[in-house]
Amino acid sequence: MADPSAATEQPTSGEAGAASRVFSGMQPSGEAHLGNYLGALRQWVRLQDDHECFFCIVDQHAITGEFSPDELPTRVFDLAVSFLAVGLDPERSTIFVQSDVAEHTELAWLLNAVAPVGELERMTQYKDKSARLESIPAGLLNYPILQAADILLYRATAVPVGEDQLQHLELTREIARRWNGRFGSLFPEPQPILSEAGRILGLDGNAKMSKSLDNTVGILAEPDEVWGRVRTAVTDPQRVRRDDPGRPEVCNVFTLHKHFTDPERIPDIAQQCRAGTRGCVECKKILSDSIVDHFSGARARAAELRADPDQVYRILEEGAERARREARSTIREVRERMGMDWAGGRSR
Ligand code: TRP
Repeated sequence: MADPSAATEQPTSGEAGAASRVFSGMQPSGEAHLGNYLGALRQWVRLQDDHECFFCIVDQHAITGEFSPDELPTRVFDLAVSFLAVGLDPERSTIFVQSDVAEHTELAWLLNAVAPVGELERMTQYKDKSARLESIPAGLLNYPILQAADILLYRATAVPVGEDQLQHLELTREIARRWNGRFGSLFPEPQPILSEAGRILGLDGNAKMSKSLDNTVGILAEPDEVWGRVRTAVTDPQRVRRDDPGRPEVCNVFTLHKHFTDPERIPDIAQQCRAGTRGCVECKKILSDSIVDHFSGARARAAELRADPDQVYRILEEGAERARREARSTIREVRERMGMDWAGGRSR
């Protein structure tokens, strides 16, 4: 399912090439939800088959918005469980937490030498978020520099992202170009791999699915909790009474059906909606059951991981170890090119 809104010049995963190195990051907002899954995780799992992948829980990005130091560790842990439960595989991919690899912040600082403030101020995410604040933390403005550092530290060539991150990725390329131009070619300009799912709307059928809007369904939720959430989903607003004809093409529940319900049942779901022969509640019950089925394996794996948290910590520590090896080699080169190898590398 190609996203029709994807710009044609954006390369797909195929064009990114088998030899490419993939990096992506996700903020630690706790257990992953359907939007995280459809917009990112599902694709990350597949990319592991033919790419060298780095998947990072970006806790240092989280401090640029509302966050609680007491809750952050749980949110990191819960997201790690979600990663592993859906099939990110520590044997094949490097899965780690950003703050475990100090080189991310070091490179972010060094990239300050070439990152243009004018561009930072033009970022849509920055404009949206800063407009609501009386006092703007510098981190909100500099957020894309840290994101560029994440990617460039591993000299990644391909970055799976949602549409809302394309602007940040374009800026990453600009920073790479400027740095390469000034200090000598080192960083590849990373290409986006655009999520196939497009924008996943929340249960309100209106805004992007997001934890902070409380319009999500957790992928690891128990069946009754999934139903408790899905039953509140907004359907076609024109369908008021049970036997009113509905419009599946404008209904977010139908969109979710297309992702989770057996494809053979989709024509019937659409047809009964249009004819007004199946009520929205019944239709949502089918969706809820599909979601529950889809994640039954993931729920089982998550339960095992939660029963043995040390296993999760061990995986993240091994991931960080592998990431650090790679990060150190890039940073050594960056320091040298920027004149910080003054003792001939003896200090490192
Ligand atoms: N800003 C990204 C988001 O909110 C998260 C992120 C941080 C990221 N560093 C990254 C994504 C590097 C891709 C690559 O979704």
